[in-house]
Amino acid sequence: MATQTGITIAGPNEPYTVVNNILRPTPGPKQALVKTLYVGLNPSEPFMHHTGMLITSWPAVIGSDVSGVVLEAGADCEKIQKGGYIFTCVPVGISEFSPFQETFLVNEDWVFKKGENIGLEEACTVGAGLLTAGLALLEGQGLELPAAGSKAPQKDSWVIVMGGSGSVGRYCAQLASLAGHKVLSSCSPSKNELALRAGASATFNNRAPIEEQLAEIERITGGKFARIVDASVASLDLSVRALETVSKEPVKYFATVDDWSDMTVPDSINLYRVKLGMLGRSGDEQEHITRKVAEMVSVFQAHINTGQLLPLDYHLVNGEGWEAIIAGVADMEAGKLSKKPVVKAQSE
Ligand SMILES: NC(=O)c1ccc[n+]([C@@H]2O[C@H](COP(=O)([O-])OP(=O)(O)OC[C@H]3O[C@@H](n4cnc5c(N)ncnc54)[C@H](OP(=O)(O)O)[C@@H]3O)[C@@H](O)[C@H]2O)c1
Repeated sequence: MATQTGITIAGPNEPYTVVNNILRPTPGPKQALVKTLYVGLNPSEPFMHHTGMLITSWPAVIGSDVSGVVLEAGADCEKIQKGGYIFTCVPVGISEFSPFQETFLVNEDWVFKKGENIGLEEACTVGAGLLTAGLALLEGQGLELPAAGSKAPQKDSWVIVMGGSGSVGRYCAQLASLAGHKVLSSCSPSKNELALRAGASATFNNRAPIEEQLAEIERITGGKFARIVDASVASLDLSVRALETVSKEPVKYFATVDDWSDMTVPDSINLYRVKLGMLGRSGDEQEHITRKVAEMVSVFQAHINTGQLLPLDYHLVNGEGWEAIIAGVADMEAGKLSKKPVVKAQSE
């Protein structure tokens, strides 16, 4: 069997190692073998590296957001062909699907086709952020998008996004405003512009005392909100208090990207916990998430093609190759990168 280069981790918290003996996977009928060109870095990389959680076998290859070129398409692929460009967030923790190596497998239902209106670098800012936001708002809170190319009627209601300057939060804002809602995002004051550019109509300071944040939510929304998404994993108490004491809506929704902490919310609030990490795994809940992701990919592809969903600002990490990815992850962990990190893995 052919071998290839890439980055492996021997076990939880073991160092990243550049190797040349990874087995090159073979695509099934509805799969393709893709050459990694750019990767987008996410908090999931340090999470998997340090805890070993989500990883299905060792030594492990990891990675999440990616853009690349199809080298070989399985016999039953209809959407993607050899030589085409794709981008996506892979099923994380499964080595043969992971992009920190020369080539990796994709299932064609889980990938976006790259069109002319999006570059290979910015394309790898989309997958994890958009699919996570989609699960939170469409699957978790019943938000409905207009057909691609059309505009939803403006609603007199707000969606509140905690962490509205982050990757997931900015896609929550894009989706909620596409659905016709006004968006109120929490962020650090220095990141107001990022949140506003993503579609927020207003922001508030996520580091102010909780009473001040509640007062701002009340002042800005007048209580006209039923939905809060916590994309910060730091805003559970604030979200519950806002829904219980400020919201005037009869039915209340709270979605969170925190799928690992113990948490409860009052019975009056519908809780949804996003579990994108279940993509591509076996089991009832996992297969449900996998079907939802495939449905969302097809819906979002149309909105990306019309320019109604946009990629994020990004920081292109210096250099190219596996060492550049390792350095990029270290810089992200050290908090040195304020925008979504993107790294060139290989030339075509
Ligand atoms: N469950 C899932 O399936 C799933 C999927 C994808 C991601 N995630 C998780 O989602 C989280 C967000 O991911 P991301 O890529 O969007 O990260 P990111 O780009 O780093 O964004 C983090 C956001 O959290 C805010 N924040 C950080 N500390 C805060 C605090 N103390 N109080 C209030 N807000 C705070 C940041 O606001 P400022 O910088 O403006 O202060 C920023 O808006 C990560 O924890 C990630 O692991 C989960």
